[in-house]
Amino acid sequence: MSSVSGHWNMEGPMTTDALSTAAPQRRFPDGFLWGVATAAYQIEGGAREGGRGLSIWDTFSHTPGKVRRGDTGDIACDAYNRLESDLDLLASLGVRAYRFSISWPRIQPVGSGGVNDEGLDYYKRLVAGLKERGIEPVPTLYHWDLPQPLEDAGGWPRRETAERFAEYAAIVARGLGDGVSRWITVNEPLVVANHGYRIGVHAPGRADEAAAAAATHHVLLGHGLAVQAMRAELAADSQVGVTLNMTVVRPTSEEAKAVAEEIEAEANRVFLDPILIGAYPADTVRARLLPPQELIAQGDMAIISAPIDFLGVNYYSPGTVGLRAEDDELRRGESRIANHPGAVTVTRRGISRTAMGWPIDASGLYDLLVQLHGRAPDLPLYITENGMAAEDYVDPEGGVNDYERISYLRDHLDASARAIETGVDLRGYFCWSFLDNFEWAEGYQKRFGLVYVDYWTQRRIPKASAGFYRQVIGANAVPVPVG
Ligand code: FCB
Repeated sequence: MSSVSGHWNMEGPMTTDALSTAAPQRRFPDGFLWGVATAAYQIEGGAREGGRGLSIWDTFSHTPGKVRRGDTGDIACDAYNRLESDLDLLASLGVRAYRFSISWPRIQPVGSGGVNDEGLDYYKRLVAGLKERGIEPVPTLYHWDLPQPLEDAGGWPRRETAERFAEYAAIVARGLGDGVSRWITVNEPLVVANHGYRIGVHAPGRADEAAAAAATHHVLLGHGLAVQAMRAELAADSQVGVTLNMTVVRPTSEEAKAVAEEIEAEANRVFLDPILIGAYPADTVRARLLPPQELIAQGDMAIISAPIDFLGVNYYSPGTVGLRAEDDELRRGESRIANHPGAVTVTRRGISRTAMGWPIDASGLYDLLVQLHGRAPDLPLYITENGMAAEDYVDPEGGVNDYERISYLRDHLDASARAIETGVDLRGYFCWSFLDNFEWAEGYQKRFGLVYVDYWTQRRIPKASAGFYRQVIGANAVPVPVG
């Protein structure tokens, strides 16, 4: 078993200026839920084990040219076969909660009908093992691994997929409900519809505008139906929420304000508004991005907007948009924001970026949390993902000294604590990710973990950031950034 203190010196680099324990600290409220996050296809491996069926990510990753270097999740971190030692490793990080996802094709190998007990049993053992170690399980039901037979029948653009999802949700709630009190239905509906069906860079790799608009509605409907189905199975005090990836969109100039607002609506409000207020932002968003009226059955919007207990927020970086790239001040950048006619996405000169190329700017998280709290003042928030990819490597002494990640985490935790100080009801933070893992179309090249994974030996090496995070959790406070 690896442990945090095993591979690097807690007294060494951690006591440099900005991270010194003598530095001023910003405290979090008592009971703040500290966790780490993963997703099934990204870590489990065991693709053909335990009666698991195939998902769209098996098909996609095995299709030449779809994933960098042809990487697949067949083995990944082999977490399926390393349950006990990974549980011990989680405990050694000091986390209070673990957000993982349940692989639908492990539970229902063909996406409907009978239950694969061996699959359900794996998650029962995971939940029990977490609880033995005092770690709260926070499962996500759908983190992108749709059973392939459901895609073959039409996938998320088809209404029945939402119904199948609710059936699966009920099975899982029945099977694990005793041990789990906080649930997440769907991870990032925007990415499901946009990356999977509109631009096709994720499974199932379709590039079809109409399919994406239909998927948008059916993923949201799937969430709503799952909430209903789960509430029927779970104890009354169980909490059910959904995770949205959200960003702030900043205009470069007064003239770009309107377009920034439209892009913000496309990225955030297409998914947030139906959940919060039961309507699509039709006044702001281009019609072709929204589901056509004929797909929205009577009662759908009420199902989608039925009360949830919390909102999960995934945040990585802010977006900045202008009407054109102004050379002296701005340069073109990449972004996950959908293309918008007349607008360019820009990155301010000099801003640092992660190994994904995503700009690093923690003020975006602060602004986002404050904005969300304004939109839904009574809804508790959890940051269900935040973190960065870095060029991590094992140095000759056997350590992984990922100081960029420490400063990223420190700045984003500081932003979170400041948001709480202004009244935002933020209840917890889950770092993405526990382990380096299969980063979707980027494969294994992009490392997001607090723990380094040597994929060839499956050796786990906690990075310097794991020790930093453990200190933060222990102190329930984060050192205030200097300067
Ligand atoms: C999010 C995904 C997560 C991970 C991070 C980097 O969009 O939910 O699985 O890939 O990005």
